[in-house]
Amino acid sequence: MHFNINSQHHELEVDSRTSLLDLVREQLHLFGTKKGCNQGACGACTMLVDGQRINSCLALAVQYQGREITTIEGIGTPQALADIQAAFVEHDGFQCGYCTPGQICSAVGMANEAKRGLPSNVTPDLAAETIDLDHDELRERMSGNLCRCGAYNGIIDAVREALLPEVQAHAGKVKEPA
Ligand code: FES
Ligand code: FES
Repeated sequence: MHFNINSQHHELEVDSRTSLLDLVREQLHLFGTKKGCNQGACGACTMLVDGQRINSCLALAVQYQGREITTIEGIGTPQALADIQAAFVEHDGFQCGYCTPGQICSAVGMANEAKRGLPSNVTPDLAAETIDLDHDELRERMSGNLCRCGAYNGIIDAVREALLPEVQAHAGKVKEPA
């Protein structure tokens, strides 16, 4: 099978039953993406496919050939942290760190959704042209990623600082909360 992961092409022999999560961890040894529940409930395995967040434990690798797959290793490096990664450090957005790669990939995907004007479960007006990406919206939009350490306040602060300006700048779709 042929995969494009973090802008690198890979040709691999893969059992057709292999999940995307197991592919990146066990065959490519990219251990940043974590396996938590392995059943779509915790978000630890979140990665990006063509900019959209998915739970990779529920994704069959065979279905993602030829797509642009990004794991936490493709977001930034220890020598060159992405803004969202630096913000997690600055705001104590983690404790043990197990959920953190999934939180960060999910936040990047969430920002992409907000730029496209997609409403969440708590967006009051589904027809509104602008979305107030306020505290409740951010919590709702990140609610698929659990943190056993309870670092939620730091996570929201980090996401707000690193990604809100980028979302707001995108076609004026999203406004700073009052
Ligand atoms: Fe995939 Fe928990 S490991 S959602
Ligand atoms: Fe430990 Fe989130 S930092 S689970």
